[in-house]
Amino acid sequence: MTGRSWSLRSRLIAWLLLPLSLLAAAMVAAAYFNAVYSANRAYDRILLASALAIAERVVLEDGDLDVDLPYVALEMLSSSTQDRVFYQVIDGKGGIVTGYRGIPNLAGVVTNEPVFFNAAYRGFDVRVAELTRTARGRQGNEQFTVRVAQTTSERRRLVREIVTGAIIGLVIVLALVGIITWVGITWGLAPLGSLRSAILNRSSEDLRPLATNVPREVDSLVASINSLMARLDESLQTMRRFIADASHQLKSPLAGLRTQTEVILKHSKPEDDRGPYLELRQLILRASHLVDQLLTMARAEPGGGGYAKEPVDFEKLAKNVTMAWVPRALEKAVDLGFEGGTRGAVVRGDPTLLEEMLANLIDNAIIYSPENSDVTVNLGAPWNDQVVIRVEDAGKGIPESERGRVFDRFYRPAGSPAGGCGLGLAIVREIAEQHGGAVRLLDGKNGKGTSVEIRLPCISAAGRPDILQ
Ligand SMILES: Nc1ncnc2c1ncn2[C@@H]1O[C@H](COP(=O)(O)OP(=O)(O)OP(=O)(O)O)[C@@H](O)[C@H]1O
Ligand SMILES: [Mg+2]
Repeated sequence: MTGRSWSLRSRLIAWLLLPLSLLAAAMVAAAYFNAVYSANRAYDRILLASALAIAERVVLEDGDLDVDLPYVALEMLSSSTQDRVFYQVIDGKGGIVTGYRGIPNLAGVVTNEPVFFNAAYRGFDVRVAELTRTARGRQGNEQFTVRVAQTTSERRRLVREIVTGAIIGLVIVLALVGIITWVGITWGLAPLGSLRSAILNRSSEDLRPLATNVPREVDSLVASINSLMARLDESLQTMRRFIADASHQLKSPLAGLRTQTEVILKHSKPEDDRGPYLELRQLILRASHLVDQLLTMARAEPGGGGYAKEPVDFEKLAKNVTMAWVPRALEKAVDLGFEGGTRGAVVRGDPTLLEEMLANLIDNAIIYSPENSDVTVNLGAPWNDQVVIRVEDAGKGIPESERGRVFDRFYRPAGSPAGGCGLGLAIVREIAEQHGGAVRLLDGKNGKGTSVEIRLPCISAAGRPDILQ
C-alpha cells in the first residue's frame, strides 16, 4: 500500500518556496552584516569627531599636559541618543590626564591613525575610538592618547530596524510568490481538470479518442490514453463480433435439432415415452431464445452494426409490435391492448432495434402477469421533443430492492419462472440509451404490477409528412 501522494501543486510550491526561503535567510544575514557595517561607519564618524575635538584642546604647558574639555563635542554623542559616553586623555607614560579611568585599550597597537574597537566597560558594551597625537611645548613634545567610548544601544537599534525592514520585505515577497504560484498552477492545471471530467463523464461504451485541449506536456499522456482506448475498442469489437458470429453459427444446428425433435414427436407411437423429447424440445427452445437475445444484444451495442438513423413513425411501430404479440397474449388469456398515441411521434433511429425493445417489454409483461389480466401499451403524445411509452401490467411487480439490478445482464431475481435468460431488460436499456433515451421502472396501474417507462427524443412530424417516407 502506498501513502497518499503529494499533489502536484504542493510539490511545485514546496520546490519553489524551499530554495527561496534559504535564499531569503541568506539575504537576512547579508542585511544584518551590512546594517552593522553601515551603523558603525555612521556612528564611528561622530565618535572620531569627538576624539579629534578633545585632542585639539590638549596643550603642553610647563611640561604638563592640560585639557580644556570641549563639552559640546561630547554632548553631540550623548544628548541625541540613549547612549552613555566615556572619555579619557592619557599622557605618554600612561598616566591619566583627565576623564574616566580604566577604559579598555587595544593592547600593542600604537599608530597615528585613529582606531575603533568593541569592548566592555562598566557592564556596558561599548565602541571605543582611540587617537594618539603629539602635544608640542616650548621645552619639548609629549605624546598623548585620547579614548572616547560610547555604549552601543543606538547602533543596535539601527541594525534591528534595518534587519526587521528586510525581513518584513522578504516575507511579503515570499507570500506573494506563494500566492502567484498557487494561482498560476491552478490556471496551468485547469486543462487537466477538464481532461479529468471528460474521462469521468464518458460512458463505459464510448471509446472514441479524447478531444480535450491540453498543454503540450500532457499531450503524450492523452495520446497514450487514446491509444489504449483504440486498442480496447478493437478488442471489444472483436469480442462482439465473436458473440454475434457464434450466436449466428448456433442458430442452424439448433433449428436442425428442433426439426428433428418435432419429427420424432410427430412419429412417436402412443405407447412411446414422449417425456424426454418434450423436455428436449423445451430445452432447444430456451437455447434458441438465448441465441436470439445474444444476437440482439450484440446488434444493440455500439459498433454492433445496428443503428440506421432514419425517421421512424413510432406510433405505427408500437402498434405493429403490439399486434404481433396478441397471439402470444391470447395463449395465456392476457388482454393485450394499445392506448393513446397521435401521429407525430417520430423517432430518429433503427426500426428493427426499436421493435426489439418494445417486444422485450411486452414479452415480460405477458410472461410475468397472471392469466386473465390486462397488459397495456400506452403511448403518450409527443411533448417537449420527447415521446413517452409505457408497458403496464397487473402482475406481481418488481420489488423496489430489485429494480436497480434487473437491468444487469443475465440477472434474474430469485424465484423468476424458468425460460428467460435475464437479457431482456439489459437489451431494452441499451437500445433506449443508444437512441438518446432513458428507461425506468414504476408501479403498474393502481399501484399493482409493473410499468416500464421509456422516454425517447423525437422530432415532431406535425405538418411535416415529408419526414416519413
Ligand atoms: N413486467 C414484469 N413483471 C415482473 N417481473 C418482471 C417484469 N419484467 C421483468 N421482470 C423481472 O426481471 C427479470 C429480468 O427481466 P429480463 O427481461 O431482463 O430477463 P428475463 O425475462 O428473465 O429473460 P429474457 O427476457 O432474456 O428472456 C425477470 O427475470 C423478472 O424476474
Ligand atoms: Mg424478459
